[in-house]
Amino acid sequence: SLAYFNGNIIGIDDPVIPIDERGHQFGDGVYEVIRFYQGKPFMLKEHLDRLFMSAKAIKLEIGKEQEELEALMLELAGKSGLADADLYVQVTRGVAPRNHLFPKCPASLSITVKPARELSHQVRSEGVHIVLLPDERWQNCYIKSLNLLPNVLAKQEAFEQGCFESVLVRDGMITEGSSTNVFIVKEGKVQTRPLSRYILAGITRLAVKEITGEQGIPFIERAFRPEELLEADEVFLTSTTSEVLAVTAADGRQIGDGQPGPVTRRLYECFQQKIK
Ligand code: PDD
Repeated sequence: SLAYFNGNIIGIDDPVIPIDERGHQFGDGVYEVIRFYQGKPFMLKEHLDRLFMSAKAIKLEIGKEQEELEALMLELAGKSGLADADLYVQVTRGVAPRNHLFPKCPASLSITVKPARELSHQVRSEGVHIVLLPDERWQNCYIKSLNLLPNVLAKQEAFEQGCFESVLVRDGMITEGSSTNVFIVKEGKVQTRPLSRYILAGITRLAVKEITGEQGIPFIERAFRPEELLEADEVFLTSTTSEVLAVTAADGRQIGDGQPGPVTRRLYECFQQKIK
């Protein structure tokens, strides 16, 4: 593993964040998680575009050009010596005496590169269980903000109920998971919520959209209700770390025949081809 903070490569456990760092005190920043496969980043440009979009949305000046940050990330990933890695990048509004108002100081940049967290073969082959919970987040979930308390609480609640993920419901409609996008398959058609301020525009979601196009699988962007999810033929989640992951039960009710379905398995296989 390798870590970087404001110009220096540091030990992953080094105590480096100043006490008045705004990410630490306010969660005043944005982040990305990027997967490296065989030393190569997956959809890096899309992740960088989203990072800069998130920063702009919170009026945060990153202080580096996109190309500069890209070069730094590739350099650090190379230095880590890891082929399959998760790169975490975080930009905050910097270090300044605690005051809600924006400080006049440069942004802080932290990066870590760690061995990729792979899901177990059992989870992959059997799928996962989810719980439905109210979406208690703010109105700007399209921003990949450091403020993840509602997501953390929802993920923990899922864990305590023996589940892998919580799927969130806002105004009677599914939004997304605490750290994943959510899809249903009904009569061969893949459906997921359209992009809006209520969900993150997942990069893996985009990859799946592209795959459905290539494979001639109908892809419908529309909001759906919890009952539609419970009655779907298949349900799956996507994220950088989960890739395409089958859901076989929701709120204790079996989805389809309780096995990862054919469309989900095909999308997972195509995804594996895409990352090679
Ligand atoms: N989570 N929705 C939310 C709320 C997320 O936090 C994430 C990513 C996704 C999926 O986005 P992508 O396919 O671009 O990874 C959807 C990351 C992995 C995390 O917080 O660790």
